Amino acid sequence: MESIKSDTQLLTVDSRNPDPGIIARAGQIIKEGGLVAFPTETVYGLGGDALNPDSSKKIYAAKGRPSDNPLIVHIAEMEALEPICAQIPEEMRKLAEAFWPGPLTMIVPKTEIVPKETTGGLDTVAIRMPDHAAALALICAAGGYIAAPSANASGRPSPTLAGHVMEDLQGRIEMILDGGEVGIGVESTIVDLTGDIPTILRPGYVTEEMLQRVLGEVQTDPTLMQKVEGGRPKAPGMRYRHYAPKGTLSLVEGEAGEVTARINALISEAAAQGSRTGVLCTEESLGQYRADVVRSLGSREDMCSIALHLYRALREFDTEGVETIYAESFSRDGFGQAVMNRLLKAAGYTIIKA
Ligand code: TXA
Ligand code: MG
Repeated sequence: MESIKSDTQLLTVDSRNPDPGIIARAGQIIKEGGLVAFPTETVYGLGGDALNPDSSKKIYAAKGRPSDNPLIVHIAEMEALEPICAQIPEEMRKLAEAFWPGPLTMIVPKTEIVPKETTGGLDTVAIRMPDHAAALALICAAGGYIAAPSANASGRPSPTLAGHVMEDLQGRIEMILDGGEVGIGVESTIVDLTGDIPTILRPGYVTEEMLQRVLGEVQTDPTLMQKVEGGRPKAPGMRYRHYAPKGTLSLVEGEAGEVTARINALISEAAAQGSRTGVLCTEESLGQYRADVVRSLGSREDMCSIALHLYRALREFDTEGVETIYAESFSRDGFGQAVMNRLLKAAGYTIIKA
């Protein structure tokens, strides 16, 4: 049964120096089996007690998410690892040393105390220590283990502002902590440490090169950047249509001037057919488009700005009722891989060559 809360409390917290009274109240809600959405450095999370199977069931119900899609367990200190990890591989210690707290999630075999409801039936658990003072304080106040997927309704872009969480989950959860805009804007890098070679299952701010500098050999799941026939991404969540706006999104790739010309031609065609049109572009090209709604993600030179504003822009197209969207493409190097992975998924892997 889905539990509907008519009164979601929205409380403001200082993300660097959160009010202990507010954190204690939020932690108590989670300890009692309720749900609290909270800011992290990547995106907002929807938190419940990771060791309580009923809390995980509530998370799936609130998001409308398939329950075979496992949740990430968020911790606040290294001592929290031992009780939930059946093994702590050497790679995990090295990566934690290098990147935690931070936007990196690691998958290892789980112990009995982590319920299958939290891991979508898997024997492994995904773990992350977020780099966000309010999130870390909440994890401690909630007893040390918070299961938290991104705090969007299933299928919508992840929230980078508390207002996005309100849009999707108001009335379905007990509390939302508003810590302002997140810092990164795309979800954490996920690396699977259960195989012979550490494998990236979802690209994020921590790049393949950064992981290789610490571990040596690291590979990326080949299904991440292309539609592979019969290919099945290892992170169950990467299978679902995700990050997607309601309108139809296509990516246009090529030389800058040609991309602009091609997008304008496509926009004219769509408009002639009565479609409401949108363009996702950059500061450099902002003035050159003739669509109903044009959104810049920031300078092409600044991949951090592009990533931070991506989901907000996709949501704005929905709010504006845009039906046909064309997006400029980005380099797939470094952090660009994470941005292009999300854009490709949002576009159902449709790429138009300019
Ligand atoms: O940045 C983030 O990671 C955010 C914030 C809130 O921490 N969380 C987040 O959670 O993005 P979510 O649930 O939206 O995405 C988790 C992804 C899903 O694709 C899921 O399938 C995968 O992690 N995952 C979780 N546990 C796994 C496991 N044991 N094996 C393979 N994939 C797993
Ligand atoms: Mg998500």
